[in-house]
Amino acid sequence: MKVIRKVSVMQKVADKLREEGKSIGFVPTMGALHQGHLSLMERARKENDILIISIFVNPTQFGPGEDYRRYPRPFEKDRSLAKKKSVHIIFYPSVSEMYGKEYSTHIEVEKLSKRLCGLSRPGHFRGVASVVCKLFNIVKPHVAYFGQKDYQQLRVIKKMVEDLNMEVKIRECAIVREPDGLAISSRNSYLSSPEREEALSLYRALEHAKSLIKEGSSVSDVISEMERIIKREAHAKIDYIEIVDPFTLEEVKTIGPGKKVLVALAVWIGNTRLIDNMLVKRKRGQSHFLL
Ligand code: PAF
Repeated sequence: MKVIRKVSVMQKVADKLREEGKSIGFVPTMGALHQGHLSLMERARKENDILIISIFVNPTQFGPGEDYRRYPRPFEKDRSLAKKKSVHIIFYPSVSEMYGKEYSTHIEVEKLSKRLCGLSRPGHFRGVASVVCKLFNIVKPHVAYFGQKDYQQLRVIKKMVEDLNMEVKIRECAIVREPDGLAISSRNSYLSSPEREEALSLYRALEHAKSLIKEGSSVSDVISEMERIIKREAHAKIDYIEIVDPFTLEEVKTIGPGKKVLVALAVWIGNTRLIDNMLVKRKRGQSHFLL
């Protein structure tokens, strides 16, 4: 396994691999690797000749006062986890390698970036789209893998790839959860053990929403039930709970039979902001015979 720190070296290596006819699978990460990342790597490794991951805590996707400085950076641990997953190359650039002096180009995926997390994290998706575009230009993957845990990020990236005619294929991978349901995230490491218990309310609220939606409850009833579950926790503060169209991320007003929606939420547990979501389909109406 190689660790490459220079953009120009990574590009040369990627060009050579492509010339040799090798398919490149890519998993971009900010490090602090966990089971969610590892499952993306397993899939990417199976589906491609070469697996490249990037580890880069991207400053431009953090807003002022967010956790850029305290974001975990356990590189040696990440390196050994990557090795166990048979990663061929870790691209591990410095901030100055990625953003030269006077850096001034950004990608804005309109509409999708302004909803859900975009409201409380202005500029976040501009930072994500721009760095992912740069990483694609550097690593030159055939296929890139993203988790549905960051569902909005996934939609933004897919839209960017479509709108800018990028040749990379995007694979969506299911959320990986702890056995008790908590969605795995690098930020879970900030939680104390009582907070970790409270964080389970996100999953509980989503599961409850799923059963209500399947049976045909209204959007407002589902949201108030979810709020009730989360507000029981002493340190929980809701940023948003929304039921949206999975494609446009626009709020849905009614959920007709057979319709699929995304239930998404962001909740502060103490000083940690957690996100989670679930795709839910309402049952198709049963046919009744009037006698
Ligand atoms: O999901 C992440 O870890 C980051 O947002 C990404 C895609 C690596 C871009 O920095």
